[in-house]
Parts: sequence; structure tokens; C-alpha cells
Amino acid sequence: MARHQVCEENDIPVGEKKPFVVDEEEILVYHLEDGFFATQSRCTHLFWPLKNGKLVDKCTVRCPFHHARFDVRTGEVVQWANFPPGVQLLNFVRGEKSLKTYPVTLEAGKVLVEV
Ligand code: FES
Repeated sequence: MARHQVCEENDIPVGEKKPFVVDEEEILVYHLEDGFFATQSRCTHLFWPLKNGKLVDKCTVRCPFHHARFDVRTGEVVQWANFPPGVQLLNFVRGEKSLKTYPVTLEAGKVLVEV
């Protein structure tokens, strides 16, 4: 694992996120009220990109496809795929799975992600 500078602190306003490719891994970096966090960029359900997902309740991202929600601080599933009704039938092959997360540090206004 190595630390990579992805952007400056001011490049991502609070409450927003931005995609980056670091060491060939696609990640999303989020700026929450309590700091910066990073996760894999694709949903663990059916790999839909989360970059257009809404940030909900200040710390979760909601997948635009089937509305799974993840806590971006830990990657944990807050709510699994639930839209449209019936999508839960897929759960026996696509069970709940957390997002991979990456440590983020802030140094002199620079955002560094360990990948
Ligand atoms: S692909 Fe994200 S919830 Fe299905």
C-alpha cells in the first residue's frame, strides 16, 4: 500500500464526492462534515458506478441502480438493494457485501489516499 495525493482539500466541497483512478483502482473520495473518506467506486451489488449516487444522511451513498446504501466511513451496508420491488429475489446470489474502503489523510491541504 502506498499513499497517493489525489487532490487538494478545496477541490471537493463538504457533502460531495469525486472519482479518481489510483494505481489502476477506481475510487471515490468523499468530503463529509467529519473529514475525508474513500471507497471503491462501484456498488458491490451489481457493480453499478456510485459516482452519480446521492449522499444521504450526511454519511451514506445510495446506489442509483437498486438503491443499496453504504456508510462511506466504514463501507458497511446500511440498506441492501431494494428497488424496484422484487430485486430482493437476487439476494441469494448477490448477498450483502460491504464496500472496500481506503485510509485517507490530510496533509497541508492535500488529500492523500492509501491504495
Ligand atoms: S447495482 Fe447497486 S444496488 Fe444494485
